[in-house]
Amino acid sequence: MKILVIGSGAREHAICDALLSSDNNKVFCAPGNDGMKLSGIKTVSITEDDFEGLVNFAIKENIAFTVVGPEEPLVNGIVDFFEAHGLRIFGPNKKAAKIEGSKAFTKSLLKLAGVPTAQYCEFNDLDVAEKYIKRQSEYPLVIKADGLAAGKGVYIVNDQKEALAVISELLASHKYQTEKVVIEEYLDGEEFSLMAFVYNGKFYPMPAAQDYKKLNNSDKGPNTGGMGAVCPVNNISESTYKFAVDKVLKPFVDILVEEKIKYTGVLYAGLILTDKGIKVIEFNVRFGDPETEVVLPRLKTNLSSVILAILNDENPEIHWDDSGIDLGVFVSSQGYPENPTKGADLGSIEYFDLLDCKVNYASVVNKNNSLFTNGGRLFLIRTHADNLKDAQADIYDDLKKLKQDNIFYRTDIGNNSI
Ligand code: AMP
Ligand code: GLY
Repeated sequence: MKILVIGSGAREHAICDALLSSDNNKVFCAPGNDGMKLSGIKTVSITEDDFEGLVNFAIKENIAFTVVGPEEPLVNGIVDFFEAHGLRIFGPNKKAAKIEGSKAFTKSLLKLAGVPTAQYCEFNDLDVAEKYIKRQSEYPLVIKADGLAAGKGVYIVNDQKEALAVISELLASHKYQTEKVVIEEYLDGEEFSLMAFVYNGKFYPMPAAQDYKKLNNSDKGPNTGGMGAVCPVNNISESTYKFAVDKVLKPFVDILVEEKIKYTGVLYAGLILTDKGIKVIEFNVRFGDPETEVVLPRLKTNLSSVILAILNDENPEIHWDDSGIDLGVFVSSQGYPENPTKGADLGSIEYFDLLDCKVNYASVVNKNNSLFTNGGRLFLIRTHADNLKDAQADIYDDLKKLKQDNIFYRTDIGNNSI
């Protein structure tokens, strides 16, 4: 089978790996990245917003189905576009992708479904939002831009001055093209991510994972696209996992059916275990990054057979490895997330060949068999081991084999789940 994966990061690399675990598959990634090519993945230089180019490629190559990695093409209707051309594609359509495209829309669905989430209000008028802020006495407060903001539209503010500045940036200066903000209560607790394959009102949960979002060790510093991930999450008990499946995923999938929102694809719940129980932080309409890089290696069934069954409206067989742990550490450019250096030398690809762990590449370019930085998050290095200590040793010993001057990584990924 020929399969097309859309996207260019470490998540898409991990999706390609999971599809390639069957020898019968040929996988293309558009646009992909230079690092992936080192692992034998064929990349195609069509960008993820060029729907017509992608459709033409899928037709020309007789692609059996396409898998979409990032949210932007989903929110912009890539699934509707492919389906209008009679092509099979795995992901939610534009109407369903609004679950990620609009936080206010998701909040209203959560309310309807009776799923616990932070108390919130929405505003599109600056004056009204300012009046609301001036009546608040409890901080921190959370302010979120309503639309897509590449993970950057969430502000945790500690006083009124900060809150007013953020509101003005979003509703007066329209940063991230914001027209509406959600202001919500701050939740404190252990965060974890729960993804599921969803279709036709049915869902198949994956094991829980945890994303390390902060830049620095001990969860300090600014939020990032994710500095590493672990699966499973030891300090999320069986009963908490079951609660999340029964009381979050199930009612949410049920409400989609009731509201006639057809959903096919992966649904991602970002959850937090507070002292008042589990609450939803966000829903995404795709595989999480970097959770996917540590969850999919545990999938014992080939990913293509799972997706194909779903697209054929059949119940997929899904088996997970429940041994040991999978750990992934993201290596970023110096200066990430504010000012990542581009074009810095990471060394010859021979260094990367020396690594024992698997690498999922993201923002790197290959010039004359040396890799160079091409953005913030460069590659994720991952391993499967019996326990966290062994997994960390595998990864951190391996990382010492690389040139260290242009890279940055956390040295405590996985520690929260001891
Ligand atoms: P989001 O884009 O909604 O996932 O938010 C990004 C990150 O901001 C989350 O992973 C949390 O770490 C943090 N966050 C979002 N909403 C809240 C909240 N209500 N309380 C505390 N932290 C939050
Ligand atoms: N790991 C967070 C996300 O994928 O949005």
